[in-house]
Amino acid sequence: MSNTRAVKHILDSRQLKDRRFLEGFFARAKEMKEAILKKRNTKHHERFLIASMFFEPSTRTRFSFESAGKRLGARVIATENAKEFSSGYKGESLKHSILAIQDGFDAFIIRHHEDGSLARIVKDPNPPFIAKPIINAGDGKNQHPTQSLLDVFTLHERFNRLDGLKVAFIGDILQGRTIKSLAFLLAHFRDNEFFFVAPERLGLQTDMAEYLRERGVKFTESRDIDAILPEVDIAYVTRLQWEREKDEERREELMLEAVAFQLTRSRAVKMKADAIIMHPLPINTEKSEGYPEITTEVDSDPRAHYFVQSNNGLPVRMALLDILFRGESDELYNLIGDVP
Ligand code: NCD
Repeated sequence: MSNTRAVKHILDSRQLKDRRFLEGFFARAKEMKEAILKKRNTKHHERFLIASMFFEPSTRTRFSFESAGKRLGARVIATENAKEFSSGYKGESLKHSILAIQDGFDAFIIRHHEDGSLARIVKDPNPPFIAKPIINAGDGKNQHPTQSLLDVFTLHERFNRLDGLKVAFIGDILQGRTIKSLAFLLAHFRDNEFFFVAPERLGLQTDMAEYLRERGVKFTESRDIDAILPEVDIAYVTRLQWEREKDEERREELMLEAVAFQLTRSRAVKMKADAIIMHPLPINTEKSEGYPEITTEVDSDPRAHYFVQSNNGLPVRMALLDILFRGESDELYNLIGDVP
């Protein structure tokens, strides 16, 4: 029997869908945000030690996780570029890497390049078992649950609700894990409407469409960004995940197709005055042949909300670690769902 029930892993945004959990969570994250602003002491978890293993590149997720851990008083041992700097390079499996060191740590934060790799190892029915909580900091094209948490925290902070929102998901819907995670989570709230705006080859996947249909979510696919933008409360833009496309010719074609979906200033000003533009970041400003998915002049538009969103990553990750470290004595901990 697997021991996944004994340890709570955060691997999928759908584990976080409980309304009571999210209400309590938003309050906790808000407390953390205030504590940071007012420089209050948040070091309640000094006896904890976190392992942070990133097999794929990251700036904000890694920095906000590690700084969240440290602001809570925990210590963090980290390897970035774990593909080369960990024993994974020598051919060790991910499960073995964790089993080999888990006794010394209280939590693992892992970003991995393979879709579903973390769920596979925690659900492996064969002993030895993973005994410490793993937080998925992004697994391939699959999930990025803490990005969804900071996204919904940001939405709630701005709109004071997670229901009745019109969201345009723009960009790489096929390969981006942030859109998938957020759409899956928002699908559990009432009367949200989604518009997927992407080049044909990067559009909605069947599994996601099926999930949304099952949940009765209203959604449409469109290539007409100019028709959709004035209608929505949120434009959630993502970059083309070009590094996941190994074929150089196809990559260039996709880049050219993506140009049509660029969020420029002239498009931004046609959005509702109280709408917001979100983006998990990074915006591909430097490697997009002059066509970033959001042009730099949009940064100063009042609708641009992506830096607020990104900075919310710190209090959100502090709140999540706080809950995991407190464990069963924390009522929010018990409202986190099982890994689907
Ligand atoms: C995203 C990711 O890694 O999935 N970045 C992030 O964590 N904020 C988005 C991306 O890489 O495009």
